[in-house]
Amino acid sequence: MGIDEMKRMLEDLNPGIYCHCIRTMEEAARLSERYGEDTEKARIAGLLHDCGKKMVRGNDNLTHSKTGAAMARDIFHVSDEDILNAIAYHTTGRENMSMLEKIIFIADKIEQGRKYKGVSRLRKASYEDIDRAIIMSIESTVEYVKMKNAELDDDSIKTLKFLKEAK
Ligand SMILES: [Fe+2]
Ligand SMILES: [Fe+2]
Repeated sequence: MGIDEMKRMLEDLNPGIYCHCIRTMEEAARLSERYGEDTEKARIAGLLHDCGKKMVRGNDNLTHSKTGAAMARDIFHVSDEDILNAIAYHTTGRENMSMLEKIIFIADKIEQGRKYKGVSRLRKASYEDIDRAIIMSIESTVEYVKMKNAELDDDSIKTLKFLKEAK
């Protein structure tokens, strides 16, 4: 399936997240050029990263990434494992992420529609050192979660620990 058909299907399936997905696709394409990753794969993964959202609206925010990977495979006929993993792990990251996985993780957090405290610093870091940007992003989630007295999921903690040890 071509990317234009994917766009049409995604817009029908989930108009609420369509614009965010387009912006994530554009950011992922720019990051792929910066880090020498396949731009077409980055565009597809960026476009489809939240395709699972509608199905699990109101549910645990983390499950949409796994649902999305299954939908990318079954509905959008994506067979590339790296793209499917980038979708499946875009919320929490994981240990030993591929470059494509890192690109989608961070593109989702810095796409041009994102407006939160610290986003411009994170954008800059993303193009300097993508590992440092992911560390920054997870650390700010840790702060947020602490403030809310909630619990951070294990995968995010593992990702953070892995990247810090690799530094
Ligand atoms: Fe997401
Ligand atoms: Fe997203």
